[in-house]
Amino acid sequence: MAGVIQQGPRARGPLVVQTQTPVVVTIDGPAGTGKSSVARALAERLGLDFLDTGAMYRAAALVSIERNIDFRREPDRLVREVIAADVRFDWSRKPPHVLIWGRSVSDRIRSDDVERIVSPVSSIPDLREHMVEKQREIGRQHKRLVTEGRDQGSVVFPTAAVKFYLDARPEVRAARRAAQLRELGENVLDREILAEILSRDSSDSSRRMGPLVRPADSEVVDTSDLSFDAVVDLLEDKVRARVAAL
Ligand code: DC
Repeated sequence: MAGVIQQGPRARGPLVVQTQTPVVVTIDGPAGTGKSSVARALAERLGLDFLDTGAMYRAAALVSIERNIDFRREPDRLVREVIAADVRFDWSRKPPHVLIWGRSVSDRIRSDDVERIVSPVSSIPDLREHMVEKQREIGRQHKRLVTEGRDQGSVVFPTAAVKFYLDARPEVRAARRAAQLRELGENVLDREILAEILSRDSSDSSRRMGPLVRPADSEVVDTSDLSFDAVVDLLEDKVRARVAAL
């Protein structure tokens, strides 16, 4: 995040949960809010599993590229191939690697060709239905979970114990995303990334199924002017307080 101050993570040990109740923490919000890194760090601090649902949609977009499927013309064919590819995670890796046909594609799905098509791919209704079911199945197997995406608190885990909605100003989100892409060796301009982000926001928010919405019972955190550690600290405190009250 802007002006990151490295304070080093606080060490308070894994979350102690006195009840058998599942503890699912959902983190939704638009691209570039730092959701993925925050969710991963939060899961690590609390000793919970981490689910990156954007990686699943990115993996589906990669299936479409690898199988040469024109997903706009043949969405059903893409859904069939994605089912055959069996998108899942290798939980022995930290963070878990996403697999298609048993092969890790965790790095590959961050490239620009995937980035360009993932939003329209993720709005195919049957594909979402398939992914939502997979995510709920993961939730049944991993009952202590931090899950991150666009529809986790609203659609996939409506009864989650704690729900966050991360946001940030569009210019800040674009600058973060551009910095990430430059780290991957891509030559990008902030203003182009800003345009992409705004267009992605509008398609993610306006789609019919599982649109990006702020769940009414979520806590909104604007990360624009907070350091990475400050955001993780804030969320950690809130989860610990909420879980103590369960
Ligand atoms: O968070 P991300 O950039 O990796 O997400 C990639 C795309 O997938 C993004 O366009 C939104 C979409 N997505 C979604 O529709 N639902 C989710 N639960 C997660 C991501």
